[in-house]
Amino acid sequence: MSFPGGFLWGAGTSAYQIEGHHGRGESVWDVFCRRPGAVEGGGDGSRACDSYVRWREDVELVKELGLRAYRFSTGWSRVMPDGVHPDPKALDHYERFTDALLDAGAEPVLTLNHWDMPSALTGGWAERATVSAFAAYTEAVAARLADRVTWWITQNEPWIIALLGYQLGLHAPGVADLGTAVKAGHHVLLGHGAAADVLHAHPGVLAGSALSLFPCDPATGSEADRAAATGSDGYVNRWYLDPLLAGGYPADMRGHWERALGHGLDFIRDGDEAAIGGRSDFLGVNYYTRRVMAAAPPGPFPWRVVGPSGDVARTDEGWEINAGALRDLLIGLSRRFPGTPLMITENGGVFGDTPSHDGQVHDERRIAFLRDHVAAVGEAIDAGADVRGYLHWSLMDNFEWALGYRPRFGLVHVDHATGARTIKDSGRYYARLIAGGGTAPALPRIEAYG
Ligand code: FCB
Repeated sequence: MSFPGGFLWGAGTSAYQIEGHHGRGESVWDVFCRRPGAVEGGGDGSRACDSYVRWREDVELVKELGLRAYRFSTGWSRVMPDGVHPDPKALDHYERFTDALLDAGAEPVLTLNHWDMPSALTGGWAERATVSAFAAYTEAVAARLADRVTWWITQNEPWIIALLGYQLGLHAPGVADLGTAVKAGHHVLLGHGAAADVLHAHPGVLAGSALSLFPCDPATGSEADRAAATGSDGYVNRWYLDPLLAGGYPADMRGHWERALGHGLDFIRDGDEAAIGGRSDFLGVNYYTRRVMAAAPPGPFPWRVVGPSGDVARTDEGWEINAGALRDLLIGLSRRFPGTPLMITENGGVFGDTPSHDGQVHDERRIAFLRDHVAAVGEAIDAGADVRGYLHWSLMDNFEWALGYRPRFGLVHVDHATGARTIKDSGRYYARLIAGGGTAPALPRIEAYG
């Protein structure tokens, strides 16, 4: 396997999921978490991993693991508590943090919108005015950090924002309306365009969005199931990929939404597609699993997820583990969008391991997951895909949105009662893998109990 020199081996987190409240403005997530039943276990991000206070420990972890890159987000609600005026204290914090990362030898990969927008921005992404608020926020952060941060992610997972935040109401701001969701998704993409324009005024900066990409496979070879897979791919992936990288929305899906909503998409104004496309210096790929699709009765969603079913390897959240699908996804993207470098901005799984009798966390399944997915990235590179980095999700166990603190995604275990961090075996394995340029011997066998 030939990972290029300078390959960005790293891990990621986001502000709301780790920082805790200390001194930030009210975020849409603070409001959402107060809804009874919105978050499993009733938790919220008021403490999370306390990283706003314990950030030096986090940088030490980055150093100890030998990460060459670290993806974090600047909290929008921290930088602009009222949605309009930047708070210099917040920017000082992120400046110190960025400098510490650079001193630790880790390239900062900065996400601007990882979902914690200020609650003062009423209506959120359903409002077109949010696009200019986002551009102003981008400018405030870029004015401080563009001289030392090269990699900027404007939007994290536009589809998930639209789906969970505005279509199903399962994430902040908790709206459940299909028309609003399609509109909000468009504004998120416009936000990418506006932010990329702001960023490009700063020399040497690279701007991209991170998309949640789910390969969609038909359940059977039938024409109906194949059409369902194509429709699902349009809904989840192409609706965002195409305006960012192929010049505009895919015609099949535009027609689909017009029919489903019973009206034209007038919120897509003349010139909008030109303001979204042609501005991505790279594509961030968040990959977790794939979708197996079958035909469903006509309607807004004439497809349904039916699998993978049966005896496949799964994470503790039930998601199929399929590294081959990541390889094929990367190869497919690089063929479809030649000239657009790819960065794996998220990949990981829920494995609930906690400290064992010896105080260590023997998360063997995460080690296997990591090994297999990194190998898949290597295979994609060997097949010609231009992949610049692999950022595992996540550096540490954290607040997993509506699922609260139960799912553990970290290379580092966090004791949520005390905030104590313990590097898991997977973290140690990842450190070896990085040092080995993508391959590593297995860890020594775990001592038997007793
Ligand atoms: C992604 C999010 C990230 C985390 C992982 C598990 O959808 O970007 O914050 O929740 O999933």
